[in-house]
Amino acid sequence: MWTKDNITDQTGKTVIVTGANAGIGYETALALYNAGAHVILACRSLSKAQETIAKIEGQNGSGTLEAAILDLANLKAIKQFADDFKQKHQQLHILINNAGVMIPPASKTDDGFELQFGVNFIGHYALTGDLYPLLKVTPGSRIVSVSSMAYLRGEIDFDNLKSEKSYDPMREYAQSKLANLLFSNELQRRINAAGDQIMSTGAQPGANKTELSRHMDKDAYNAAVERVGGLMEPWQGALPSLYAAVNPNAKGGQLYSPDQDGGYRGYPALLPMTANALDETVAKKLWNYAEQVTGVVYP
Ligand SMILES: NC(=O)c1ccc[n+]([C@@H]2O[C@H](COP(=O)([O-])OP(=O)(O)OC[C@H]3O[C@@H](n4cnc5c(N)ncnc54)[C@H](OP(=O)(O)O)[C@@H]3O)[C@@H](O)[C@H]2O)c1
Repeated sequence: MWTKDNITDQTGKTVIVTGANAGIGYETALALYNAGAHVILACRSLSKAQETIAKIEGQNGSGTLEAAILDLANLKAIKQFADDFKQKHQQLHILINNAGVMIPPASKTDDGFELQFGVNFIGHYALTGDLYPLLKVTPGSRIVSVSSMAYLRGEIDFDNLKSEKSYDPMREYAQSKLANLLFSNELQRRINAAGDQIMSTGAQPGANKTELSRHMDKDAYNAAVERVGGLMEPWQGALPSLYAAVNPNAKGGQLYSPDQDGGYRGYPALLPMTANALDETVAKKLWNYAEQVTGVVYP
């Protein structure tokens, strides 16, 4: 059983966690801070990031913390975050693409993408590309993309990526979480082809008590909890991301997940991905789309 106690000393490492003020991201940032890392809490609200720092610092870990504004629903803001980061830091050891939104009422990012596809996937595609030069020069760097078991029912609908024809909140969430894995896998193939020494891998937290369900009504929430058989505390849901980020045995192009109850509960282990996440043709097409609409080209 792999737990927080297995995290080795991370002193000297610089880490970014997106959406670090709540839920899985908060627990991920806390564990890495406790292990000695310098953790950047990349949040869309600076005050929430600062409040989170006050809360984490009260726990006397051995790391250091920094608050930064990152709105993944705005490509300009993402570039600004990355530019500021590159001015301040020479290395980036771990990038955890964690922030996410689930089943909001139909809405768009500032750049006109459906909110879930835009924040969960497009924003993290651009962020990773904008930070790629630093990841490339940092020995042993890793990129962790946080997905969900919802990816299983995901399909990339290239004819409706902006949900202009129709909007189904759960379908769009599943699409965005599949996109996270297609991205993570395709990125590892491109890194390998470029000869860079970076690991890109996926993680999914299982079923956890967080604010992600804020857009669900009570009945739908209760039915979902019953269907998955109960929720874990977010510290446990953070373990797959942490395993992917620091475990020397973790590999690129994989999915780390809780090991029990179909991936909904348990402790981190490798979970074989289904064909929809391993489809290289769809992954390439999705990458080309993201490249074209963001203008961010990498590796
Ligand atoms: N909880 C689960 O059971 C579960 C299951 C499967 C997958 N996941 C995945 O786990 C990840 C973390 O989710 P969670 O459960 O911890 O949810 P959460 O408690 O709702 O936290 C989500 C985080 O993402 C941030 N965020 C949302 N929109 C953003 C934007 N435009 N720019 C920057 N940050 C933004 C939120 O910031 P604000 O606080 O400002 O809104 C918050 O910090 C997500 O990728 C989610 O898909 C969670």
